[in-house]
Amino acid sequence: MPESGRPMVRRGLDHLERCGALRREVVARPEDIPGQLLAVADLFSEAPYGRCAALLAARATVCAPVDWLQPLDAALRQLSVRAEPPTSPGSCGVLVRIGEVEVALAPDDGWLVEPIGQVERSVAAAAVAAEAVARFLGRPARPLPGARRLPGLDRRGPRTSTGAPLLDPWPAPEQLRELLLDPASLLPAGELKCPRPAAVRPLAAGEGPRMPDWLRALLWCVHVPLRWESGDLAHSGGWAHRGLASARGFYPVELYLVTDTGAWYVEPGDLRLVPVSPSASSDPGSRFTLVLTVRETKVSHRYDRYATRLCLQEAGLALAALGDAAREAGIAADAVAELGERGRSGPWGELLDLGPDERPVGRIMLGPPQRALDARSFARHLALVRQRRSGHRVFDALGAERVGRLGSLPAELTAALDDRLSTFLVVHRPCLDAAAGRWEPGCYRVTGHGPEPVRAGLEPTEQLQRGQDAMGWLAPDYLSASATVIVAVPVDEATADVRRLHDITAAAARIAHRGLLGAAAAGAVGRIHNSLRADVVAAVTGEKQLAPLFQLIVGCAGPDGTITVDVAEAAFIGNGITKLTGDTRC
Ligand SMILES: Cc1cc2nc3c(=O)[nH]c(=O)nc-3n(C[C@H](O)[C@H](O)[C@H](O)COP(=O)(O)O)c2cc1C
Repeated sequence: MPESGRPMVRRGLDHLERCGALRREVVARPEDIPGQLLAVADLFSEAPYGRCAALLAARATVCAPVDWLQPLDAALRQLSVRAEPPTSPGSCGVLVRIGEVEVALAPDDGWLVEPIGQVERSVAAAAVAAEAVARFLGRPARPLPGARRLPGLDRRGPRTSTGAPLLDPWPAPEQLRELLLDPASLLPAGELKCPRPAAVRPLAAGEGPRMPDWLRALLWCVHVPLRWESGDLAHSGGWAHRGLASARGFYPVELYLVTDTGAWYVEPGDLRLVPVSPSASSDPGSRFTLVLTVRETKVSHRYDRYATRLCLQEAGLALAALGDAAREAGIAADAVAELGERGRSGPWGELLDLGPDERPVGRIMLGPPQRALDARSFARHLALVRQRRSGHRVFDALGAERVGRLGSLPAELTAALDDRLSTFLVVHRPCLDAAAGRWEPGCYRVTGHGPEPVRAGLEPTEQLQRGQDAMGWLAPDYLSASATVIVAVPVDEATADVRRLHDITAAAARIAHRGLLGAAAAGAVGRIHNSLRADVVAAVTGEKQLAPLFQLIVGCAGPDGTITVDVAEAAFIGNGITKLTGDTRC
């Protein structure tokens, strides 16, 4: 090869390697190095085996206040790094040292010694551990989030974003048509400049009762960060992900517990009950109802009027996830999707002291479990919820596997069938399901007997791709995914009235939720993607006049250098609902 061509070839190889499509196996790969660790080191080093081996053998010296040691140790162990006791017990900052590499957190504004709660501390510890390993692997340093500024648990910022649009509470049918059929017209042309509201509702710190363990277990599946992800492709470079998907991780759904003795805001994360009504007692009482609200400016500060659609979708997903977790825990649950007035004027408004951008979206009545929680089966459910992720490489052809994995997805979609909705499975590549059934590319309609073929071949996939490319959003690459689920409803059904739209979106969310967990069970990722247009649905399915409510793209992500650290479930270790597994996942 002429000398002048070499840099180009090297750049090409570097690119393929970075994408995870190529691994330069110069030296035979040692048996005992986990593949995922290798994938991460591959992306950052010319000598991946050496770095992986060093990482497996690494010990970190951790100097931190004593209540930080357990979560830091738990987080580091997941990355194969063993923590050693602090050398200077009196230290008040956090210092993690692996070999020559140091990651330090100064006791900024005294936050390390503030009573910020176990979960927040565990999330911060996961972020520190991930960053320590990233630096060990030679990545550029990233700033660490302070414990009161954790993504998704941020306590700074206003309750309501000033300047963010307040949404029309009762949009007319033509506005609903716009929302479903012409979303691009509602999205802001550029980034809005409104401040992001605090993630946790700011409330005077009142002391509420401890919530019963069965309720904590339930909420762990939806309202608590379960994993920290960092890396170039991770959301905003580093993010604390909950069991629920949420557009940009804004998590607009808030929870309140209302019983016969009082009403409390449920703080996400540590699940503290903070009184919102003056009469709230120190006894949680009985007759439990969880009231779900959305704080709309959490979404509209970025998405403007399109936030209406996202808020309805997220409310539906939260109701579905709570109902599902309750069933797994043996708790009787009756979930209702209902829209209320914003602020203090609606039925719950005064009791819950709702803000001017906050409105009820549903409630779920819960009966305490009749028998002790089946810890093992609930732990399995929680593990599945933890495994759910949107993934980054589902859109990347280079990372895709040749045969897709559908797992229990076709069965889940069939079980979740709803007469009011049309559900389609578009298969993009040959796939296997959990029963080793083979699925060829084509469009299938989900019926009571399972998905039945509508059109065979790759044309539906190509139509999806053309439609998305024309849309101009950050378009997914369908050919690299395994399959796409479309949940749709007749346009007139959905746009007659916003209450009807809310109800039907919640029904569609139950299917989407089952689909996401089905993908997770197959070891695949599932990303909700809102860029599907009605005319594309018509072209793909052959059915006119359907409005898409959810699109779910399922695929197997290639290695992307993301470092994932599960948030230690310290709060549950005591009663045996879960235990740390010490997995190595980079
Ligand atoms: C209602 C809703 C709409 C979403 N729309 C999109 C979208 O249009 N494009 C996209 O890439 N991701 C979309 N997502 C996925 C989120 O970005 C993703 O859930 C978030 O980054 C958190 O990551 P996780 O799901 O892995 O926890 C959407 C999620 C939800 C719940």
